[in-house]
Amino acid sequence: MASLAVVGLGYVGLIHAVGFTLIGHRVVGYDVNRSVVESLRRGRPHIYEPGLEEALRRALEGGRLKFTDFLEDAVAESEAAFIAVGTPSAPDGSADLSQVEAAARAVGRAMRGKKWYLVVVKSTVPPGTTESLVAGAVAEESGAELGVGFSVASNPEFLREGTALEDFFKPDRVVIGAGDEKAASFLLDVYRPIEAPKIVMKPREAELVKYVSNVFLALKISFANEVGLLAKKLGVDTYRVFEAVGLDRRIGPHYFSAGLGFGGSCFPKDLRAYIKLGDRQGVDLHIAKASYVVNEYMLQYAVELLEKHLGDLRGRKIGILGLAFKPNTDDVRESRGVELAKILVARGAVVYVHDPVAVEKAKAVLGNAVVYVEDPQFLVDNTEAVVIATAWPQYEELNYTNTIVIDGRRVKKAREAKIYEGIAWA
Ligand code: UDX
Repeated sequence: MASLAVVGLGYVGLIHAVGFTLIGHRVVGYDVNRSVVESLRRGRPHIYEPGLEEALRRALEGGRLKFTDFLEDAVAESEAAFIAVGTPSAPDGSADLSQVEAAARAVGRAMRGKKWYLVVVKSTVPPGTTESLVAGAVAEESGAELGVGFSVASNPEFLREGTALEDFFKPDRVVIGAGDEKAASFLLDVYRPIEAPKIVMKPREAELVKYVSNVFLALKISFANEVGLLAKKLGVDTYRVFEAVGLDRRIGPHYFSAGLGFGGSCFPKDLRAYIKLGDRQGVDLHIAKASYVVNEYMLQYAVELLEKHLGDLRGRKIGILGLAFKPNTDDVRESRGVELAKILVARGAVVYVHDPVAVEKAKAVLGNAVVYVEDPQFLVDNTEAVVIATAWPQYEELNYTNTIVIDGRRVKKAREAKIYEGIAWA
């Protein structure tokens, strides 16, 4: 059993704090936000994730999980800290590393006097960050020498929102980018209870693995969407095509669901950061750029389809079903539904929106620019056209027969619409 600190209790940090506890470790979760810490102590997660509340309760009951807003306490009681703070997009698209640096400095200060400590970067950061920015900040603040008084590692995560706990306990692989032998053997011990291939590599390799994985998945989606645009014109069902294509074991069936494109906290942001990384190294990353362009175009195409049926959108009543970036989450970050709402509002349309769980979060972004509707059937019945932006199961229950549907998520029932347009399939 190891004693671990998790620094930053956002989505990634909280899942890891709970997960590490449930596989047998002692964990102190730290966050600057006192109300988050207090709510977690009471067993109430501040994020929505299936099974998390139950898992948090079990973890707290065992007495091996604590939460604090004093970083010094978390570091004092642990042998390693996992930095899981945000790396949002800077205005130029690159990864903003200010939170990572601040966390590394704070951990460095808190670990003064320790014989050895391990600083692990969970956040998605450009290759080289762990060994340069993080190790440098920790050394400066702690006065300890890298490789002697402390070690560093990159340990990227591949959690999907909605299935994050399952992804933690049953990952496809665990990637350990260890700065030295000691870091590698410590992390191999931490992950011993998890049955999955464990790959030990250099920190900068592990950091690149994370970007390449996300960029490749985003690329598969954009590829399917581009094929979908063509297939629609040819009168072909894209999903039938990928069903057959995906059976080729060299290709695989996943992440070919064509539709309105990808949103969320990772794909768009990581794609931008990766492209920027290429720019800085003088490498033009054509494929990544194209996949970003296709993703943006899918929104544009939804607008074109609306115009095809309604003409000028000024003053027209348009409904959007789904604001969460995918089902089973209330996360609206870069969600296609929210982005589309912004575009339609800018075009002068009167936009009605529905989401079963994400309305509160959407309000913080869209404010009063749209009309929030509680009953999705009311939205369908009182608008001139509807765009389905999230595949919530309840959208399979609606009656669409009197409206125009631009289906961005392949809802079967929507095919009964007066006019039906699959966005990327015929
Ligand atoms: C993703 C990665 O899967 C995960 O490994 C990483 O750690 C974080 O980013 P997440 O953002 O939670 O996870 O969601 P994911 O299920 O991968 O979906 C991302 C977006 O792509 C969603 O908007 C989804 O609707 C869209 N998508 C996904 C498609 O449009 N088609 C697909 O075939 C798959």
